[in-house]
This record gives sequence, C-alpha cells and structure tokens, in this order.
Amino acid sequence: MKKISIASTIAALFILTGCGASKDYTPPADATGEQIFSTACTECHKPLNANVAMILSEKVANKDAIIKKFQGGSMRMPAFKNIQGESANRLAEYILTNSEVK
Ligand code: HEC
Repeated sequence: MKKISIASTIAALFILTGCGASKDYTPPADATGEQIFSTACTECHKPLNANVAMILSEKVANKDAIIKKFQGGSMRMPAFKNIQGESANRLAEYILTNSEVK
C-alpha cells in the first residue's frame, strides 16, 4: 500500500515538473503560430480567452526572449529544440500579438 502511494507521488511529481526534459515535437513547415501554440503549448498554457493566449511578464515580452524560452525551456518547462527558424518566428509573433503583458 505504502509503496504504491510513493510511486504515484513520484509519477505526479514528474508530470508537474514536466521532467525538466525536452520535447521533440517538430511543427509542420506550413504551420501557423497559432497552430503550433495550440499543439505544443496549450497543454500547460491554457489560453485565457479567444484573444489572449498568454500573460507575459515584461522581461519576456519580446520575440528574442520568447524564442529563447521555448527553445531552452526552464525548470518546469520542457525545451522545444525542434521549433526553429520560420516556425519559431511565427510562434513568437503569434504569442506577442495575442498576449497581455502584466
Ligand atoms: C509542461 C508544461 C509546459 C509546456 C508544454 C509549455 N510550457 Fe511554457 N511555461 C511552463 C511553466 C511552468 C512556465 C512558468 C515557469 C517557468 O518559466 O519555468 C512557463 C513559462 C513560459 C513563458 C514565460 C512567461 C513569462 O512571462 O515569464 C513563455 C514565453 C512560454 N512558457 C512559452 C511556451 C511556449 C511557446 C510553449 C509551446 C512551444 C510552451 N511554453 C510550452 C510550462 C510549459
């Protein structure tokens, strides 16, 4: 009994931390920023409403910082190393124009 609850606690921790790992999702070449976001990101970043995809902190509210964030990941966010070039550009553009800055 005890063993099972320890195992599920560990499993839950991995889910919560996103394993600190990386995701090998590669967007199709013609995917729009919105399509990439709704495929790869909404699992954790639930859009607030039809017009607001994310709330960004001021220091991340620019294209370079957004791209760095999703390519590099962080403690609780996986790194999306295969979102590159034009796809990365379109995704960052989509987030910037569809987010509120707090
Ligand atoms: C497994 C869950 C998870 C997934 C999937 C995920 N994120 Fe995140 N993301 C987080 C968490 C948790 C944070 C806040 C803490 C942090 O920065 O580590 C975050 C923070 C961010 C931030 C910084 C926001 C700010 O204002 O500081 C950006 C930008 C971001 N994510 C973009 C994306 C994009 C784009 C994708 C899809 C390619 C994505 N995330 C997928 C969990 C996730």
